[in-house]
Amino acid sequence: MLNNIVSNVAVAALVLGVSASPVASPDASSSGQIPFKFPLSNGFPNIKVPSPELTLIQKNAHGTLPNGALPTKISAATATTFQVIAANEIFEVAYFSSLLKNITSGHYDVGKGATKSIVYNALHAVRAQEELHALGANAILANTGNTPYEPCEYIFPVSDFDSAIALAATFTDIVLGTLQGAELTFAVNNDTAVIPLVGGVIGQEGEQTGFYRNLGGKIPSALPFLTRSSGVFAFSALNQMFVVPGSCPTKIDVPVLPPLTVMTKDISPKTTSVDFAFAKPAGFDCKMYSLVYLNQQNTPVVMPLMNVKYGDGMVYFTAEFPYEANLMNGLTLAAITNSAGPFTDADAVAAKAVFGPGIIEIN
Ligand SMILES: *[C@@H]1O[C@H](CO)[C@@H](O)[C@H](O)[C@H]1NC(C)=O
Ligand SMILES: *[C@@H]1O[C@H](CO)[C@@H](O)[C@H](O)[C@H]1NC(C)=O
Repeated sequence: MLNNIVSNVAVAALVLGVSASPVASPDASSSGQIPFKFPLSNGFPNIKVPSPELTLIQKNAHGTLPNGALPTKISAATATTFQVIAANEIFEVAYFSSLLKNITSGHYDVGKGATKSIVYNALHAVRAQEELHALGANAILANTGNTPYEPCEYIFPVSDFDSAIALAATFTDIVLGTLQGAELTFAVNNDTAVIPLVGGVIGQEGEQTGFYRNLGGKIPSALPFLTRSSGVFAFSALNQMFVVPGSCPTKIDVPVLPPLTVMTKDISPKTTSVDFAFAKPAGFDCKMYSLVYLNQQNTPVVMPLMNVKYGDGMVYFTAEFPYEANLMNGLTLAAITNSAGPFTDADAVAAKAVFGPGIIEIN
């Protein structure tokens, strides 16, 4: 079901759309950034249950890990889903740790007085909440005899407060899209016990993205029905944008696609054309490929590749972005597929995706 193209993640930069700054590929050597490495000063991710360290994380998180019995058996698909969830949550702990440090050190200008303390208090709780999300996912994996996800090394392609918050909104939106599919996987595989748990996490992440959007001057709730994603797109975006290549000790059964770069910046909320690029595969024939957009809960939109040009080992093309017909606000994911569809949903697109996700955020 999943295609098994493994990416060369350093191939091309991935550029976010309208509200966020350009995102470089995670090539730590060329960015000059020192990669973020675990453990945190409290020992995370190596936290015993119970322990004084866990007690403090829970206090900072304003709440506890679920205190009922953990599942003892989950399906293979559910286990893989929890590995993707843990991978994301551990990255988020890294991101918010770096962000908090940049705020407390004065490196980021957050404003003064009430604003600064509102932002700091929010992010301080979020970091601890993400620690519990990660510990919870890994505890389910361990208790069911599956491999918990261990941290990689990360870099963050932002260096100012506004871009860091916009990027947090974007990766949280991708998580929100992906957890929809996670719920479906649990249901289809009869792992019903974890459905409400992850439902609780979906709401929590939604509260977060509403705050980040509001800080960026946007309305808190982007859309009536949030954009659906797929584990392949979430795991690919995570690896393409943030993971230092080769730094992950845990290998999981989810492909990392090579990037689809959105070249057009500041995409307007109107029907327009958007420029994209991806690394040219051997024997490439553009008639074999389509561009597909995922937005809201709508049927994936399939577009032909237009004005195809080649250079520097890359394929450059344009595709229409049909904003007006579907009010394509919030998160849109784009993918190159080796099928023209039609596709019923994000998982069907992911199964035929060979590059992606291109990330566009509007309004
Ligand atoms: C924190 O600041 C450093 C130095 O500018 C930057 O490299 C890093 O990406 C920042 N982290 C976040 C999450 O914004
Ligand atoms: C699903 O799980 C429930 C509760 O554990 C069980 O009663 C039921 O038989 C299972 N159904 C299938 C199709 O496995």
